[in-house]
Amino acid sequence: MTSLLIGCGNLGRIILEGFRKKKKKILVLEKNIKVCKDIKKKFSTVECFSDPKKVNWIKVNYIMICVKPNDSKKVVSEIKNYCNKKHVILSFIAGLKIKTISKWIVSKNSILRIMPNIFISSNNSSTAVYGKNLNTNIKNKIVRDFSEFGEIVWMKKEDKIDFFTAMFGGGPAYFFYILNCFNKIIKKNGFTETQSLSALKLLLEGVLENINKENFKFSDSIQKVASKGGTTEEGLKVLSKRNNLFMLFEKAILSAENKSKRISKKIQ
Ligand SMILES: NC(=O)c1ccc[n+]([C@@H]2O[C@H](COP(=O)([O-])OP(=O)(O)OC[C@H]3O[C@@H](n4cnc5c(N)ncnc54)[C@H](OP(=O)(O)O)[C@@H]3O)[C@@H](O)[C@H]2O)c1
Repeated sequence: MTSLLIGCGNLGRIILEGFRKKKKKILVLEKNIKVCKDIKKKFSTVECFSDPKKVNWIKVNYIMICVKPNDSKKVVSEIKNYCNKKHVILSFIAGLKIKTISKWIVSKNSILRIMPNIFISSNNSSTAVYGKNLNTNIKNKIVRDFSEFGEIVWMKKEDKIDFFTAMFGGGPAYFFYILNCFNKIIKKNGFTETQSLSALKLLLEGVLENINKENFKFSDSIQKVASKGGTTEEGLKVLSKRNNLFMLFEKAILSAENKSKRISKKIQ
């Protein structure tokens, strides 16, 4: 199995590193000459091309497109003459619909949308995958070839990818944002960054350990900390007042989801 990665920026780089770690064959097509040089320097055995003509397309099985939405049409027009229907196309592009890619590409390829997050670098990504009328063979192959990056979650409908992108594609940033709010409060109360990070890390590890326990329930775990008449109860009262925090989170996810839908409409 040889994969061709098109675009080696933020996400592409993580995918490349993951493939190298797992000793999977990967070629790179990256238009940025500086990035290409850097890849060749860091991964001496990886072939990186800036010109699609130079790629040995016959040995490619998966074509992984990992460029910004605005560059997607150009990429497809650059590669479409080299594609044949044996190539399985995996689009990592937020918002870009399968029907749009099939309209741009000439050959009748299997096209899948795949939406991981940056935690694929530590095999902890919940990765959404969607493809129309896929046969079980391809589905099994995708699970075999990509589940090492974390967990594959098959979408029943394509538009669910917009929610998944908003929730889990952006998820790492939301968690870092929330933690940074706590970090700022901790420092405002006189603790150092090191102390804050260390205490927050333990807090997160404890949360994770609890979640991993059998029969875990959020409400039970909250109840265990928030004893009646105690201090945590007061804090929770503020957080849950008029359901404000929940509604704020919901609004944020919906806003990201709508952005994904707007991208779909923009690139057709
Ligand atoms: N970052 C994430 O966490 C994440 C998560 C899930 C999905 N995604 C999706 O992944 C895609 C890539 O995001 P990113 O953050 O990795 O973008 P990025 O950092 O901009 O990387 C894209 C790379 O592709 C190169 N490129 C542009 N046009 C090309 C072409 N015609 N041929 C070959 N290479 C080309 C760019 O070069 P130049 O810089 O010179 O233009 C850049 O190096 C996006 O569509 C995004 O929706 C990202």
